[in-house]
Amino acid sequence: MDVTQAINKRRAYRSLEPVEITEDLIKDLAGSTQLAPSCFNNQPWRFVFVYDTKVLKDMHTVLSPGNEWAHSASMILAVFSRKEDDCIIKDREYHQFDCGMAVGFLLLRATELGLVAHPIAGFSPKKTKEVLGIPEEYRVITLIIVGKHSEKISTALSEKQVEGEKNRPERLPLEKFVHFNRFES
Ligand SMILES: Cc1cc2nc3c(=O)[nH]c(=O)nc-3n(C[C@H](O)[C@H](O)[C@H](O)COP(=O)(O)O)c2cc1C
Repeated sequence: MDVTQAINKRRAYRSLEPVEITEDLIKDLAGSTQLAPSCFNNQPWRFVFVYDTKVLKDMHTVLSPGNEWAHSASMILAVFSRKEDDCIIKDREYHQFDCGMAVGFLLLRATELGLVAHPIAGFSPKKTKEVLGIPEEYRVITLIIVGKHSEKISTALSEKQVEGEKNRPERLPLEKFVHFNRFES
C-alpha cells in the first residue's frame, strides 16, 4: 500500500471486531511515530498502549457518552505530552502539533496493517490519568481506539454514527481552505 492508498483507505470506523495484540504490533505502531518530524527534533509524544483486559475495562469508565462503541477496542492508546517538552515560540506551543503529526503517521501505518485506529476527544483526561498513572503535569491529548473493522454495524451507534460507517463524512471543498499566493476571504 502506498501513502495515497493509506490516506484514502483510513477511516474512523466505530464497528470493531477483535484483533490480536502482540509486542511486535505495538513496536511496529510505536516505530511509525519515531520518524515523525518535530520542532528541534523534540519528539514530545508519549504513549501508553493498553491491551490488558482488566485495564481496558477500566478505560471504559473514562469514555464520554456517545463513545460506548469503543468498548469493543482490542487496544486503546493514550497520547500525552508536556508543553515544556517541545518548542514554545511566543504564543506558539508546538507539543500538540507534533503529537498530531506522530499520530498521523501511526494512523496510516495501522491502516496499512489492516487495522482501524480511531482518535477520540470524547474522554475524561483526569480519569485517564488516574487509571493509567500518568503524572498530573502531562496533557492527555487523545485516545486512539484500535481494532479491526467489522462489516456488522455496532448496536452502540447513534443514527449519525451508523451513517458515518456507511459513508465517509463529507469534507470541505478545496476552495474553502486553500488560498493561492494570498489570503482571500
Ligand atoms: C481529535 C479528534 C477527535 C475525535 N473525537 C471523536 C470522538 O470523541 N468520538 C468519535 O466517535 N469520533 C471522534 N473522532 C473521529 C471523527 O469524527 C472522524 O475522524 C471524522 O468524522 C471524519 O471521519 P473519517 O475519519 O472516517 O474520515 C475524532 C477525530 C479526531 C481527529
